Amino acid sequence: MKARVAILISGAGSNMAALIEAQSADCPYEIVYVLSNKPDAPGLDRARALGVEALAVDQAPFGKDRAAHEAAVQAELAARNIEWVALAGYMRLLTPEFVARWQGRMINIHPSLLPKYPGLDTHRRALEAGDTEAGCTVHHVIAEMDAGPIIAQARVPVLAADTPESLAARVLEAEHRLYPAALADAIMAHEKGPRIAPEA
Ligand code: GRF
Repeated sequence: MKARVAILISGAGSNMAALIEAQSADCPYEIVYVLSNKPDAPGLDRARALGVEALAVDQAPFGKDRAAHEAAVQAELAARNIEWVALAGYMRLLTPEFVARWQGRMINIHPSLLPKYPGLDTHRRALEAGDTEAGCTVHHVIAEMDAGPIIAQARVPVLAADTPESLAARVLEAEHRLYPAALADAIMAHEKGPRIAPEA
């Protein structure tokens, strides 16, 4: 049985597309649903074009009430019997309660070699620090941002002429290769015993 996976996005959804396109007969996951907190996220149409159900749960009407928005998100996930959540450019902080509910079965991709550069603006920070290599990390999501157990990383060189944009493009290509493999690894590892259990 393949694990039923939902991808949460806010934007372009290039990692989402990579996760969908990498599915093969022997892959342990099935992307069954894409959800965005932004109704205008281009990734929604991209998911539909790839044959995956995609829906926005707009955060706007909920204002600052993150818990109420997440309750609406959770209802959609539950209605589809989702077993794993893959965050792919989901730009809204999650409440500790939502994280605890999914802990061990929710992963994220971040465009730096964590623990270096959690948060935003990772490529500019790597260039300013004079780093000679950069990369991306897939990790389990815990309450602290970009801090959960690391599943996999990919490295790319930083070139002398790099701008944040050129470095971002090189890292993004690595993300597209890394994320499908890391999701599959996380699911297969989980079947042998959860790496981090949900909190009570
Ligand atoms: C990626 O760089 C990812 O690492 C970060 O947000 C970006 C999302 O890009 N979390 P896309 O929407 O997958 O194209």
